[in-house]
Amino acid sequence: MQILQNISLKPYNSFGIDVIAKHFVSITSIANLKAVLSLKKHSNILVLGGGCNMLLTKNFEGLVIHINIKGIEIISENEDAVYVKANAGENWHEFVLWCIDNNFGGVENLSLIPGNVGSAPIQNIGAYGVELKDVFESCEAMSLENYSLKTFTKKACNFGYRNSIFKQAAKGKYIITSVVLKLTKKQHKLHISYGTIASELELLKIKNPSIEDISKTIIAIRERKLPNPKLIGNSGSFFKNPVVSKKHYNKLLKNFNDIPCYQVSDTQVKIPAGWLIEKAGFKGKRFGNYGVHENQALVLVNYSDAKGEAILKLSQLIQKTIKRLFGVLIEAEVNII
Ligand code: EPU
Repeated sequence: MQILQNISLKPYNSFGIDVIAKHFVSITSIANLKAVLSLKKHSNILVLGGGCNMLLTKNFEGLVIHINIKGIEIISENEDAVYVKANAGENWHEFVLWCIDNNFGGVENLSLIPGNVGSAPIQNIGAYGVELKDVFESCEAMSLENYSLKTFTKKACNFGYRNSIFKQAAKGKYIITSVVLKLTKKQHKLHISYGTIASELELLKIKNPSIEDISKTIIAIRERKLPNPKLIGNSGSFFKNPVVSKKHYNKLLKNFNDIPCYQVSDTQVKIPAGWLIEKAGFKGKRFGNYGVHENQALVLVNYSDAKGEAILKLSQLIQKTIKRLFGVLIEAEVNII
């Protein structure tokens, strides 16, 4: 383990923003992590997993800790279910493929989500009708205060839509080191009702889909709609879908009769931010080397060497415009650093 100086973070964030970390260390074991924290040399720490949910807007003056702890193991199983532990540095999608290869069900709808396993609980990753919390059992995290490991059960994580205790009360206090998921070994519970999954399967003439069929379908849908961060810098959804009162939604309906929504409760609905951004005229808009993606307005993109600051300004302009046009605040989903 070596602490490096003045390292470009460009290869470590999916937006591909070129900022410099004053100090940088890549960690491959829990012992390493404890050792580096015990040095107590750095008060300003940035923990990096896959770097897929952040926008870096300036050089980082402290220590960047890149969590690269690998390993997947079965910790227990019975006839129906298996408990799988994956370490934080495993790539999420590769982990999903490992589960599918082993016929372990539950994460197939979360195929191709960028990022690492350790970041998944922080924002309770979700896609196509499934969220991490649906299969989550527990995670282990190191306290930044006393460097001990603590287990967080599903209940303790307090999961919500793109939300958890790690974005609230425990924010900046722990580093997630591993995650345990409970997956099915047979009679997998398939989720095919979201969006175009069912019609896509029909098109492929697949009647009784396996978890592998679902994974392949979702990969195809995502590849069509979302830019590949290896080719065009981006952080997936830049904004969260806003939750508004039904009263406000009904008011909007009078002017925009095609505005979609998902029911949240008896009094609230969620509006797709992508729809609002598209309606506001931003979809596919390019501002030199950055802009709004042409197939999914929720995604901001870096075409080459954009500055994080410029993308942040664009996101603020979008927020302001949406507020003015629809009276709705759309909040950033990515972490602004
Ligand atoms: N829409 C538009 N224009 C757009 C994009 C979307 O009008 O440019 C409208 C359409 O009405 C569409 C609806 O929005 O039917 C929903 O779109 P989509 O199914 O693509 O889902 P989303 O709400 O835009 C969310 C997640 C995605 C996830 C998809 C699929 C959030 C913030 N985003 O997007 O997550 O892949 O559902 O489940 O909840 C991510 O977090 O990085 C991410 C990509």
